[in-house]
Amino acid sequence: MVLLYTCLTISFVLLLALSDGRLEFLADITDLNPPTNLTVVDRQLGEVTFSWNDGLSEFIKAQSRVRYLFEYKYFDSQSWQEDSRLLEPEYMKRFELHRGVYIRVKNVLLDKHQKTVKESNWTVMGIQSSTGDRETLASNFSCVLYNHSAMNCTWYCGRKAPNDTQYKMYYRQNDATLQCTHYTDVGGRQECHIDQGTVDVEENVLICVNGSSNSRMIQQYYTEFDPQVYEVYNPPVNLEVLPNLTVKWDIPPGYAINIDCFAFELNVTDLDKGRTELFTCRHETKYALVHIKPTTRYSVKVRMKLKHCKETKFWSPWSNEDFIEPVQVLNIYWMLITLAILVTVLGLILMFAFKRYRLLEIVVKPIPSPQKKFNALFEEYNGDFQNWINCQIPVSEVDECHSVIIEENPQSEELRSFRCRPSMHLP
Ligand SMILES: *[C@@H]1O[C@H](CO)[C@@H](O)[C@H](O)[C@H]1NC(C)=O
Ligand SMILES: *[C@@H]1O[C@H](CO)[C@@H](O)[C@H](O)[C@H]1NC(C)=O
Ligand SMILES: *[C@@H]1O[C@H](CO)[C@@H](O)[C@H](O)[C@H]1NC(C)=O
Ligand SMILES: *[C@@H]1O[C@H](CO)[C@@H](O)[C@H](O)[C@H]1NC(C)=O
Ligand SMILES: *[C@@H]1O[C@H](CO)[C@@H](O)[C@H](O)[C@H]1NC(C)=O
Ligand SMILES: *[C@@H]1O[C@H](CO)[C@@H](O)[C@H](O)[C@H]1NC(C)=O
Ligand SMILES: *[C@@H]1O[C@H](CO)[C@@H](O)[C@H](O)[C@H]1NC(C)=O
Repeated sequence: MVLLYTCLTISFVLLLALSDGRLEFLADITDLNPPTNLTVVDRQLGEVTFSWNDGLSEFIKAQSRVRYLFEYKYFDSQSWQEDSRLLEPEYMKRFELHRGVYIRVKNVLLDKHQKTVKESNWTVMGIQSSTGDRETLASNFSCVLYNHSAMNCTWYCGRKAPNDTQYKMYYRQNDATLQCTHYTDVGGRQECHIDQGTVDVEENVLICVNGSSNSRMIQQYYTEFDPQVYEVYNPPVNLEVLPNLTVKWDIPPGYAINIDCFAFELNVTDLDKGRTELFTCRHETKYALVHIKPTTRYSVKVRMKLKHCKETKFWSPWSNEDFIEPVQVLNIYWMLITLAILVTVLGLILMFAFKRYRLLEIVVKPIPSPQKKFNALFEEYNGDFQNWINCQIPVSEVDECHSVIIEENPQSEELRSFRCRPSMHLP
């Protein structure tokens, strides 16, 4: 029994001594060799695979955790980018190779808490851009995906690219490199079209645009992008405004999508004032409209984009339009106003007509009383017709009288009698 305890104690102490020894051993290594023989073992468009020898002894590797730190820096950039801490002396990374890039690796030893105990110097390597003037590069490169992942990419010829330059576009996904085949050239802007169903929207696309010319080297352009970010979705379909002013629509067919990732934008335009309001919504393919003026006609349409899981750069085109017509009750209101206007206009026309044809006068004119017309006969001649008629005889004078008479003036009768009187005293 005592022997067993002694044995256990001895082995425990030995273990302690050993682990202590391991740390001491790590501390003892003053110089850790940097990696050697850093090489490019494969290159597909901008995707480069590196490998290296760590140059560490089997003993060190057995006694500690070895890791490899990988960093890079583009020629046109100021600082190193930390990238990965690797378990194996091998790594694949995608670069914009036309910028030229340095990569560097170092060996690191870790303790059991993943803390760095020792690190080597860096081993650095540069990858030059392809030969040729920088300004022969295809410039302003961009792509869009549309209608279930057909893809169009466009670029401009480099400023110093000769006229005979022929650019070609290559793309890589899922370990396959393909050449784009449908090229068009619109006044210096080149485009290449990739058919529906060729691009996998779930996988990043790697691009290389290289070119050839008889007189110059053309530099090669490299890029990588997430196709979902550049997808223009087909517009929502079957948009409809229900009688309770809820707008509903459907997702365009053929997309396997999670509706929670999408944003919808509703365009509600007051067609009378030409004023547009935009509403955004998510989760649902419907929207209840409020603050809709019942007297106004509106148009409603919707568009969509990926917003919440990733964000696409572009909105889809607008869906079909539907309209909100003014409510019936208010049509009666308008009819009343129209009626009022009609009546007023009619009234005005009638008044004009009355005035023109003196209808008003005829209607309003009082019935002439003989008493009035024959005032002089009754008042001054006491009804002596003979005397009165004598006065009336000088026809020429009466005629002159007539020309001054203002018919409407009730005093005109007096005027006449007044002016007639002197004629009586004429010889
Ligand atoms: C690490 O680099 C320094 C300075 O460049 C040099 O003095 C040293 O010898 C290097 N160590 C090893 C192990 O190469
Ligand atoms: C360097 O690496 C390459 C590729 O991995 C290999 O073929 C070559 O033998 C290595 N050279 C040395 C000295 O390790
Ligand atoms: C290319 O892009 C640059 C910078 O974004 C811009 O200034 C230039 O106008 C673009 N060129 C063409 C031809 O669109
Ligand atoms: C979109 O793709 C469908 C087939 O997937 C095709 O029938 C339709 O014509 C395409 N529309 C456009 C605008 O290219
Ligand atoms: C894409 O390119 C094709 C062929 O050049 C063209 O017919 C189509 O209109 C383009 N579509 C877009 C969205 O640019
Ligand atoms: C362009 O790149 C492709 C793919 O890497 C290659 O097959 C082709 O030879 C290159 N063309 C030129 C002119 O460099
Ligand atoms: C409007 O009507 C539709 C169907 O008739 C219904 O699903 C929806 O909940 C209604 N919305 C409101 C706000 O009442």
